[in-house]
Formats: sequence, structure tokens, C-alpha cells
Amino acid sequence: MTEEFVPRETDPRVPSSARIYHYYLTSEPVFDSDAVFAERMFEIVPWADEWAHHNRNFLRRAVSFMAEQGIRQFLDIGSGLPTGGNTHDIARAIDPKSRVVYVDLDLEAVDRAHDLLAAQDVLDTTAVIEGDLRTPQHLLDHPDTRRLLDFSEPIGLLIVSVLPFVPDEDRPGELIAHLRDQLPSGSYVALSHASMAEAPAEILDKLQEANTLYQQTSDPITSRNREEFTRLLDGFELVEPGVVFAPDWRPDEKGAVDPQDPARRCNFAAIGRKPTTADQGS
Ligand SMILES: C[S@@+](CC[C@H](N)C(=O)[O-])C[C@H]1O[C@@H](n2cnc3c(N)ncnc32)[C@H](O)[C@@H]1O
Repeated sequence: MTEEFVPRETDPRVPSSARIYHYYLTSEPVFDSDAVFAERMFEIVPWADEWAHHNRNFLRRAVSFMAEQGIRQFLDIGSGLPTGGNTHDIARAIDPKSRVVYVDLDLEAVDRAHDLLAAQDVLDTTAVIEGDLRTPQHLLDHPDTRRLLDFSEPIGLLIVSVLPFVPDEDRPGELIAHLRDQLPSGSYVALSHASMAEAPAEILDKLQEANTLYQQTSDPITSRNREEFTRLLDGFELVEPGVVFAPDWRPDEKGAVDPQDPARRCNFAAIGRKPTTADQGS
């Protein structure tokens, strides 16, 4: 695990996962290169925007779930460009005193989030850090993390649709374990992970093509299967219903997503809870 955070420079000619995802969700390009890339993706997988909305809806349900469990402080790593239903909007709707620290590697995501938090006048309870999941101690030691998060109380950790951008050589399991070990007992983690492993056979070649195209971005993708995804949650107790496709994680309305929807089977999701000593004794 590297210790020193190396900031990433923005190259407007090279699309980034943050900006492409923002285009899927909003149709608003940041740079032309992002729109060109996303439109090419729509030609290959026309439901890429639906996939993104399913993922974003999982994030929304994960924050609501954690807040309902009493979580009042969140560390959202790989938070992306702000759009509707940001973590702090959801958490603050349940308790305006909720605290949120956002982290992203993409400068456009960091700058826009900071502008939004300043415009909403919520910088006393929220912050955004330029940081990298691959240097977790930098995030944990950051003055804004220490100012806003109380490590003696449970924390909601969100790493939603970020791990595909962490290749195996960067040891994603160790990164999560490092964060887990420093979280207080009773904390939660929400993960989602794009995957081709259980996608319908008839779209596999399209997904492979899309995956290859992502090699041209600043964030190439690693697909992981259900077992590899589940292993990332080692040391956490899985909350019901366990590891499922993102739209199936406690959907707002049963049957809201068509089981035949090709976007449904391409994203694993789960929430885990760090056990307390009382849990272990029972
Ligand atoms: C697909 S977006 C997901 C955004 C948000 N979490 C969501 O689910 O709606 C992936 C985000 O992860 C960020 N990211 C990728 N690798 C990262 C890393 N190593 N550390 C921090 N952020 C990272 C990207 O910049 C991008 O904003």
C-alpha cells in the first residue's frame, strides 16, 4: 500500500470515470472528450445511463438505511461530481446535524462539490477532500476528516462504484481492511461494483467492448465476480439481503426494476456492518 497521496492532474482530452458517469446521469458534459466517450458507450451499451441511475439509487438507499440505523457521520470515497441526491442532502434530510466528508481523485469532482457545499452554506458540517482510496491513511489523517468525523462513534463508509477503478495490483481488499480496522465497531460500509460475471450471455461481447474502451480513459476498469466482490467485505457482517444486484438491494418498490433489464445484472451491491464486541459475545 502506498502511503503518499499523488494528486492527479486534469487532462481535458482524456475522459475520466467521474465525468463520464456524470454525463450518464445528467447528459451534461464537462469536457467534449467526456461526451464523445459517453456517446460511443451508448452505441455499445444503450442502457449505460440506466445502469448509472440504478447505481446512484443504491447509494441513496444505502445512505438512508445507514441514517435510519442511527449513523450521523459519513465518509464517501469516490463521491463523483455532485448531482441530485448527494450523500449530505440525504443524510441532512434525516438529521441536519449529520456530517459528511467526500473524497475524490478527480479535481473537477472536488471543485464542483466544494462550490456546492459553499453555496449551500454547509461547510461547517461537510467537506470535500482531494484524495485517493489507494492512500487510505492520507484520507483518515486529513484535517477535515479529523474535524468532522468522531472515530469513537460509528461511521457510514461509502465506496460506491469505485473499486472497479482499483486494479488487483493495488490490493483493494487490503485497502478496505485498512479502513475497516480504523472504523469504530457498529460502523457500516456500502459497496457496489460493476461486473460482467453474471451478465446475460447475449450482451457479454458488448460489455467486453465497453470494458476495452474504458482503457482509453484515466480510469480503466477491472471486473470482479460475486466471490471476489464478497471477499472485499471480509470482517464485516453482511446486512440482509447480502450480496445482490444493485437494484435488488432493498428496492423502494418491489419489482420496480424489470428482471429482464440488461443493466440490472451488471452491478453487485452490499452493505456490511463492523461487529461490536457484544455481537461477538452473543
Ligand atoms: C462511477 S463514479 C461513482 C460516483 C458515486 N460514488 C456514485 O456511486 O454515484 C466513480 C468515482 O470514483 C472516483 N475514483 C476512481 N478511483 C478513485 C480512487 N482511487 N480514489 C478516489 N476516488 C476514485 C472517480 O473519480 C469517480 O468520481
